[in-house]
Amino acid sequence: MSFENSSVLEIIEKRGYRKNIKGDKFSLYISNYPVNANYLKSRIGNSDFILAELCCSIGITLEYLVPAFKKVIGVDIDKKVLEKCKNNLQEVGLFHKVELIQGDISNNNVLNQIKADIVIYDIPFWYPYKQKNQGDLLAKNPPLKELIRKIQENITSNIVIFAPPEWKYEYFKKELGVIEFEHVYINNKHNRNQVYLGNLINEEGETQIKLNYHI
Ligand SMILES: C[S@@+](CC[C@H](N)C(=O)[O-])C[C@H]1O[C@@H](n2cnc3c(N)ncnc32)[C@H](O)[C@@H]1O
Repeated sequence: MSFENSSVLEIIEKRGYRKNIKGDKFSLYISNYPVNANYLKSRIGNSDFILAELCCSIGITLEYLVPAFKKVIGVDIDKKVLEKCKNNLQEVGLFHKVELIQGDISNNNVLNQIKADIVIYDIPFWYPYKQKNQGDLLAKNPPLKELIRKIQENITSNIVIFAPPEWKYEYFKKELGVIEFEHVYINNKHNRNQVYLGNLINEEGETQIKLNYHI
């Protein structure tokens, strides 16, 4: 199923999202977030902690992680996707534990509003409708090293970064120093790399996790 030819319903069906999740085709076209979010819940969940997700979009990751935390903060630049995120979390009865902040994560005033014990940063490398005619999208992201340093200094050193499978360990190690770089395979396909910092590191260097789902 190619992205261009698929409908929202096909994507929901194919990717195993719950049937009434709200999102447009672009916000939904994210590879197998539910299965990874479920795994993360078991790995980093802590009911004494507040979790913040930078670039939370329609809240698929949040939906799985909210039950495992005291409170969750979602941040996104896009007002429309945040409205969908609110609806999605209301529908599953989780919104009372959630605070949403609309803003650009490059902006210090936005980062300064966040008080959390763990931060997830979903690097927005793929966003197709913003990619059109806008040159290199990666160059539009906040510089990685600088953003992570700001999070470490102002929020927490316990950070998880979602990164595309093409991005290499050596790059993150050079930029960020001591990390765990986890290759995530879903149904035997290299789906993403997940970078852990601070106390979330189980083992320094490259590790691997194999996840499966059946729909
Ligand atoms: C890959 S999606 C995130 C998916 C999300 N983690 C989930 O589980 O549903 C990327 C999101 O990053 C947001 N984004 C892009 N640049 C941003 C910025 N500078 N500040 C805040 N959000 C941004 C986009 O609006 C988009 O919703």
